[in-house]
Amino acid sequence: MGKKIMILNGSPKPQGNTKALIAHFTKGAEQEGHLVVCFDLQQMNIHGCLGCCQGGKDPSSPCVQKDDMEKIYPFYKEADVVVLASPMYYWSVSGQLKTAFDRLFAVAECNKDYVNPHKECALLMAAEGETQENFAPVKCFYEALVSNLGWQNRGIVYAGGNFAPGAILQKTDQLQQAEELGKHI
Ligand SMILES: Cc1cc2nc3c(=O)[nH]c(=O)nc-3n(C[C@H](O)[C@H](O)[C@H](O)COP(=O)(O)O)c2cc1C
Repeated sequence: MGKKIMILNGSPKPQGNTKALIAHFTKGAEQEGHLVVCFDLQQMNIHGCLGCCQGGKDPSSPCVQKDDMEKIYPFYKEADVVVLASPMYYWSVSGQLKTAFDRLFAVAECNKDYVNPHKECALLMAAEGETQENFAPVKCFYEALVSNLGWQNRGIVYAGGNFAPGAILQKTDQLQQAEELGKHI
């Protein structure tokens, strides 16, 4: 049976490099019969976590803030795989992605021991820099996140050497990598 895959797209650019990675990943995944839903976070009204620790009382609407996270929570509950897709912004994920991800804490709050729902996950990242050193802080962040949530990493595409929107369209190897990850997710 196909998996349910939720993509959190942290790029603000509809024709950007991250979006091209997402398109190829989706093509690969859909070819294999998986269901893919992409949330374009830039188009959504999502506020930063208040850190109030008052969430988790209503599993169908776990956060005290009522905004567009309400569209994400139901699919997150069902998803087998969560894909973090983002441009690199200052050696991290974009603010759009980090803001939405922090809000998933409200779902962990539904469990008395703050246990996160178990998911598989993947990372798609576009960046200007292309060295291993450039990607090291993101690698460290992603590995810490995955390990602490108890999730299972299914793969990473570090797509360096891309600054202008659409630059990645010249990099068939990177797009192919995203498609292969989708196929083998
Ligand atoms: C605010 C900002 C910060 C950035 N920081 C980095 C960075 O730390 N390292 C890097 O390699 N590229 C950095 N970049 C370049 C983007 O990661 C790159 O242009 C990426 O391809 C954009 O993806 P997109 O087209 O999907 O938005 C930055 C770009 C912006 C606008």
